[in-house]
Amino acid sequence: MSQTDATKILPPFTQIPAYLQTIADYEQQAEKHLAANTWHYLQGGAMDEYSVRDNLQQFKNIQLIPRLLNDLTQGNTECEILGQKFPHPIFLAPIGHQQLFHTEAEAASALAAEVLGSNFVLSTFTNTDIQNLKKENPYKWFQLYWQGDREKSLALIKLAEQQNFKAIVITVDSPHTGIRDRERRVFFQLPEAMQHPHTPTHIPLPEIREDQHPVFNGLMHIAPKWADIEFVIANTNLPVILKGVLHPLDVKKALSIGVKGLIISNHGGRVLDTAISPLKALERIKAVVPSDFPLLLDGGVRRGTDVFKALALGASAVLIGRPAIYGLAVAGALGVAHVIKILKEEFEITMALMGTATINEINQEYIFQD
Ligand code: GLV
Repeated sequence: MSQTDATKILPPFTQIPAYLQTIADYEQQAEKHLAANTWHYLQGGAMDEYSVRDNLQQFKNIQLIPRLLNDLTQGNTECEILGQKFPHPIFLAPIGHQQLFHTEAEAASALAAEVLGSNFVLSTFTNTDIQNLKKENPYKWFQLYWQGDREKSLALIKLAEQQNFKAIVITVDSPHTGIRDRERRVFFQLPEAMQHPHTPTHIPLPEIREDQHPVFNGLMHIAPKWADIEFVIANTNLPVILKGVLHPLDVKKALSIGVKGLIISNHGGRVLDTAISPLKALERIKAVVPSDFPLLLDGGVRRGTDVFKALALGASAVLIGRPAIYGLAVAGALGVAHVIKILKEEFEITMALMGTATINEINQEYIFQD
């Protein structure tokens, strides 16, 4: 806990200093721009944070085997998901409460994403009104946290449809928030005055008797179930993607009800500690879906080589969470844009060094795992 004194918090930069060259540089810098408890909220995870660390380690355990002398002059980083072409496969993961990190919050992240051609996933817990984001931007999906009932959840989906969002991402891995020991130790709480234009900060819980269980008789009553996902699919024309599915049996179930894609994620290690890392889950999940089924991955992507490894193991694209927020904290939209640019350039150079001209050429033959 290096900062407790608010006067020591650096304001966001308006220019990017030359010493910020990597995501790790941004991580180190971001701490200087945030209050200590906000920093712990951002960096921390559930319980002992094994999954937080494992998400990073998973990429280091894989080595690359390049192919050489191929003609790459027609190369590009384009990818296609659900019939939509994207200039590159590095997307922004849904992150709520972005005002914690910069006054311009999601508006800054969305702008950076648009400029860099990155698909932006807007969180239900946005502080920025969805109607204030640029409607014409074609690269955006809406993330839904279940609102406790179907009517309220569907109202949010309809709003996303009206605002030209191209897919609905339903986060299903956190019917209960993670046990965040680190946050508790620093008394992290969202500021009381913080506004979420599209959701109550806490969905009202059903009343329970003293002899009832607060989790099973309380929160689990407002948690989404498979039938709710089927309801959403039946009531929107947008493709529905589930975020946080890790078990192949859940994948099969999702496919059978018409889910159109998955974001394989353990929520950045923030919900269930020791949950399988997304890269390991990806390999198991890849085995049970049709070859063209969109599988995206988030958690631990910090280098262009990580993007390559995820794609080689079967991901269609990756999402970054904390790295984008480091950029936001350090320099607002400029910082987020720079973070995306760093990863995009690293990825492009990795593709060239690996001898792959297009994303479709990236496969398991390029990687070595012990
Ligand atoms: C919310 O989704 C969080 O991880 O803090």
